[in-house]
Amino acid sequence: MNTVRPRLRLVVVGHVDHGKSTILGRLLADTGSLPEGKLEQVRASCQRHARPFEYAFLLDALKDERSQGITIDGARVFFSTASRDYLIVDAPGHIEFLKNMVTGATRAEAAMLVIDAAEGVQENSRRHGYLLGLLGISQVAVLVNKMDLIDYDEDGYRRTVAEYSTFLKGIGAQPMAFVPVSGREGDNLTVAPAAMPWYQGPTVLDLLDAFEGSRPRTDLPFRMPVQDVYKFTADGDDRRIVVGTVETGTAAVGDELLFLPSGKRSHLKTVEAFPRVVAESISAGHAAGVTLEEQIYVPRGEIAVLPSESRPEVTTRFRANVFWLGRDPLVRDREYVLKLGTSRTTARVEAVQRVIDASTLAVDDAAAAVARHAVAEVTLKLSRAIAFDLQETVPETSRFVIVDGYEIRGGGVVLEALHDEQAWVRERVLLRNAKWEPSAIPP
Ligand code: GTP
Ligand code: MG
Repeated sequence: MNTVRPRLRLVVVGHVDHGKSTILGRLLADTGSLPEGKLEQVRASCQRHARPFEYAFLLDALKDERSQGITIDGARVFFSTASRDYLIVDAPGHIEFLKNMVTGATRAEAAMLVIDAAEGVQENSRRHGYLLGLLGISQVAVLVNKMDLIDYDEDGYRRTVAEYSTFLKGIGAQPMAFVPVSGREGDNLTVAPAAMPWYQGPTVLDLLDAFEGSRPRTDLPFRMPVQDVYKFTADGDDRRIVVGTVETGTAAVGDELLFLPSGKRSHLKTVEAFPRVVAESISAGHAAGVTLEEQIYVPRGEIAVLPSESRPEVTTRFRANVFWLGRDPLVRDREYVLKLGTSRTTARVEAVQRVIDASTLAVDDAAAAVARHAVAEVTLKLSRAIAFDLQETVPETSRFVIVDGYEIRGGGVVLEALHDEQAWVRERVLLRNAKWEPSAIPP
């Protein structure tokens, strides 16, 4: 049954009011992707309330956004072309909602960054661009919008392109393309406009299909963070079911699983969908419950991997790129909670290497704290070891969030695992667990 169409996750970002929702709404309308009658319904509602029709309202109508004409939450839009399906997240541009932008971008494979041609490059045009890079999104198309407001002037367009290219070069990024568009007029979204004879490049629709889908996550090493362990005790049923969502890779019944950080091992016995045995293997994307041959105790937070594949890192210290969203700065003498995969650990900032203003790119090597909306390179020290990967090996298990007072205040990606004092103890435990032999002596 290989009828699953490829799907690309895309995020639309950029400064507030630069036209992200308008472009997306217009794109849906021009490609006939809206539910039957939606366009008419929104137009009629605008007329009733005596306000001008906006394509952006289409997105509000698809997802109930509280309306002050700005996007607050990231609306999710499903969209298809002949070649594949898209899940597009319309991120908010206002700085107050930076967290929603980051959430929307976290799992995206590509991005469209929108800049208002009349207003030019603004603070969040740069900040969003920087965060895309930090999150590992390398496929970015820049749409220079509202070309109608500058009379489709080529020089005006070139100025914006030059300014933003310089910024991107500064952070080592390179966009796939720049496209002059008008979301409101529909220029260059699905058809090349007569108004810009000087532009010969792709339309937005062409660009969408030019993005490359990321490599299937089943190609990556197997990673299943353990969510919980259920125990069935009724009627002499003594199965323990280990549940979790497979982030990447594949494991089959009979495979040996290694649980980290504990180092315990067991073989995958069954894949369960209680009460039936359902599958011979589990792979990326599956929320699965499995039973093991050998009865071992594994707590929530461990990551199941295959010992035959590349291993995650296990340590209490690492260097990371973080972005900070909390009102109070991220400081050294305070305890936070770090969540990575299903693990939850208290963490402290051991050192702040440098703080970067993601908009101006000003670097502060001497900062002791990370202020709101800044990004930084820091060393984190955890109260106990966890398993994780580096961004370039398995991005899914390299990302974490920092929680303070039950709220997500920041997030980041691990850059490098650092040595810690507990390393030798862990290695001995790992060795012991690896050599563990079932005993012939009954309990
Ligand atoms: P946030 O989600 O709040 O960050 O804003 P946004 O980027 O989604 O902007 P939105 O699509 O809501 O558009 C903001 C305003 O710009 C609206 O009044 C639009 O009508 C207007 N606008 C968007 N695209 C164009 C365009 O191509 N030309 C002109 N003239 N106006 C546009
Ligand atoms: Mg919007």
